[in-house]
Amino acid sequence: MDSMNSSFVKLIGLLTGLLALTVVLTAVVGGLVYLGSFGWVFSDRPDLALTEEKPPVNIPANLSLADPAGMWLAPDWTSVEAEANADDIRYGRELVANTAAFLGPAGKVKAMSNGMNCQNCHLNAGTAPLGNNYGSVLANYPKLRARSGTEEDIPKRINDCFERSLNGQPLERDSREMKAMVAYISWLGKDVPKGQMAKGSGIYEVPLLDRAADPAKGKLVYERQCASCHQPDGQGVGKPDGTGYLYPPLWGAHSYNSGAGLFRLSRFAGYVKANMPLGASYESPILSDEEAWDVAAYVNSLERPQKDLSKDWPDISKKPMDHPFGPYSDGFSEEQHKFGPFGPIQDAKSKSK
Ligand code: HEC
Ligand code: HEC
Repeated sequence: MDSMNSSFVKLIGLLTGLLALTVVLTAVVGGLVYLGSFGWVFSDRPDLALTEEKPPVNIPANLSLADPAGMWLAPDWTSVEAEANADDIRYGRELVANTAAFLGPAGKVKAMSNGMNCQNCHLNAGTAPLGNNYGSVLANYPKLRARSGTEEDIPKRINDCFERSLNGQPLERDSREMKAMVAYISWLGKDVPKGQMAKGSGIYEVPLLDRAADPAKGKLVYERQCASCHQPDGQGVGKPDGTGYLYPPLWGAHSYNSGAGLFRLSRFAGYVKANMPLGASYESPILSDEEAWDVAAYVNSLERPQKDLSKDWPDISKKPMDHPFGPYSDGFSEEQHKFGPFGPIQDAKSKSK
């Protein structure tokens, strides 16, 4: 009895001991894991413990940029058949979508532009809402443009993009290709009343930051959100047959030049905010406003072809806030006109009006 009792007591003692050990071990392991989650115990960089700065978390700013109600939509494509100039319209669309195949460095009509397609920037052949579409072109041209100080018609405006965005030569005004592009762009905008801007045409206006856009922050955005397609060196990826790009270049010799619309920070930020990375749209944008401005600052501080702009903006007081080349009629520096903060420039502009 006694010996049984004492071995029972020993057993209980042993079990209790084991239980206690388990509790202690659990506590120790648990504690280690807990502390480890702060980057403490397991960090090989004790200097970073607890204060380690994580890369900025990209919280998708996926609030729609505009109400889809009333958005401009292109006319139904199948209705082209009924038009007297259907062949021109169809060829025009083809030229906008696959410009390089006809007019790029290896173009079958003429080599006169850099290998990009109009569609690279005017998405879905110029029909995407807030994708730099052509909805309001017919309704608003010809018009006096402050950049040239002259009245511009649609062919002149198309050639602006050839000479700047496609860093190329102007197309003959009476060529079959020019007539076709004008026919297509005019057909797209045929239902927009003269003088009006269709909802969602052109480029989204990103709210201004109260600081200058920061190329260093933009580089991080670029690496995370853009480099996989446009490549770390920004040169994009060409199609194997040499006509156009799978992913167009963002800087360097084959990109848009310093006179292009996208070289203005607000144009670049607005285009990208509503359309990039590929898959973003005005209804589900991916970049925050800050990311859009910063990545614009990064891309537009890298090398690209330069255009002689001495004839642009003959009235310097008409230069937009983000035209990055002086002289200016206000007291702000070239640097501020390039990167911002743009608020004070805007304020000065509205006061002088
Ligand atoms: C690198 C980008 C890029 C490429 C490529 C490009 N454009 Fe543009 N285009 C722009 C930008 C930016 C604007 C100005 C939009 C704004 O400020 O609202 C513009 C404006 C226009 C406009 C005036 C739109 C309006 O509503 O006032 C027309 C027309 C146009 N482009 C035609 C073309 C054609 C045709 C091609 C091909 C030959 C082409 N673009 C290629 C970026 C580009
Ligand atoms: C998944 C691939 C992909 C990613 C990621 C991506 N892009 Fe693009 N990007 C494209 C494609 C494809 C086009 C041309 C669209 C077309 O032709 O329909 C384009 C066009 C552009 C253009 C206009 C054409 C040019 O080359 O100048 C700009 C500017 C641009 N992207 C900027 C960006 C920026 C900035 C980012 C990152 C925030 C980004 N993209 C991320 C695929 C991508």
